[in-house]
Amino acid sequence: MIVLGIESSCDETAASIVNEKKEILAQTVLSQLDEHRPYGGVVPEIAARAHLQYIDSIIDETMQKAGLSFSDLSAVAAAGGPGLIGGVMVGVMSAKAISLAQNIPFIAVNHLEGHALMPRLTSGVEFPYLLLLASGGHCQILVVEGPGKYKRLGTTIDDAAGEAYDKVAKMMGLDYPGGPEVEKKALNGDKLRFNLPRPLKGKQGCDLSFSGLKTAVRHVIEGFSPDGKIDNANMSEQDIADLCASFQYAVADSLCYKVNKAAKIFRKEFPQGKFLVVSGGVAANVFLRESLKEVAANNKLDFTAPPLKLCTDNGTMIAWAGLERFRLGHQDSLDFRPRPRWPLDADAPKSTGAGLVKA
Ligand code: KG4
Ligand code: ZN
Repeated sequence: MIVLGIESSCDETAASIVNEKKEILAQTVLSQLDEHRPYGGVVPEIAARAHLQYIDSIIDETMQKAGLSFSDLSAVAAAGGPGLIGGVMVGVMSAKAISLAQNIPFIAVNHLEGHALMPRLTSGVEFPYLLLLASGGHCQILVVEGPGKYKRLGTTIDDAAGEAYDKVAKMMGLDYPGGPEVEKKALNGDKLRFNLPRPLKGKQGCDLSFSGLKTAVRHVIEGFSPDGKIDNANMSEQDIADLCASFQYAVADSLCYKVNKAAKIFRKEFPQGKFLVVSGGVAANVFLRESLKEVAANNKLDFTAPPLKLCTDNGTMIAWAGLERFRLGHQDSLDFRPRPRWPLDADAPKSTGAGLVKA
């Protein structure tokens, strides 16, 4: 079983080929960082045009690297949403064209399911497992019971964790995307220097919130400016490093507090479950990974996360989720319509923070 996966739901044009032995036969990721950098965030129209420009060559390059032709494929998968609709359409149309021309099944993969199932490829995690899915557009705590079977225990009620990283980085004049930049600066910082809030900590349930934390960071930056503007001109390198470290600590602390609560529920309701998993772009944050390891140990769970490079958007997660669905007999018709919103747990109450795409 060999599956080609295509990802184009945000600002990465990516393709990958995996097989059922969990081998990645080839993968290619093209990040549109240069296109979006001047704007400090992803611009949907620019993203869609760039996907259109590069998708064919990215797919070709991936097929060549694997030494395969289209007729070797068992199925073709594409991220069908949630995400920026122009980009999703580009990936879905490409996959449908290959499906039609080669007469092989097409599988529309939920981008979030791609992140959610990635650790099954990289560390062989068995269902059910507890998952923190933290990316630029989403932040949820879920029980993963199988492909298409999710129980949401908590979600952000406003910003996603990655979105908060990106916005805070922008306020401090750091490069885009903000997560890796803040993490780099934080290495030289004092995480205890600024006492930032942990929104919703101590409140019932496993929901999360980051917008108050973002505002608190803005107030700290304004405090350095004599006229109270959001201006980092009066902040030294050390001030920025300390603020990055304090922010990173506050995000990890907030996430760990709620994941710890979710772990208690998981242990009770799914006693056969053994793993706490983190995935999505923010899972590349080493400080967060280390903090979550402690939460897992305290709850007698094993901890795992995809390798750093497979945390952010890539084609492998789409190919693998497609393969997991395909071997269960699932495929989609060529009438599939790209879905800007596509919750993993359709039964969970709607939340303004869940299922949002990056601004
Ligand atoms: O999963 P992803 O590539 O795209 C979405 O599906 O949203 O996640 C991208 C997000 C960005 O907000 C980025 O700043 C964040 O993940 N991110 C990080 C790190 N690397 C990427 N956040 C914190 N620390 C990192 N090392
Ligand atoms: Zn993603």
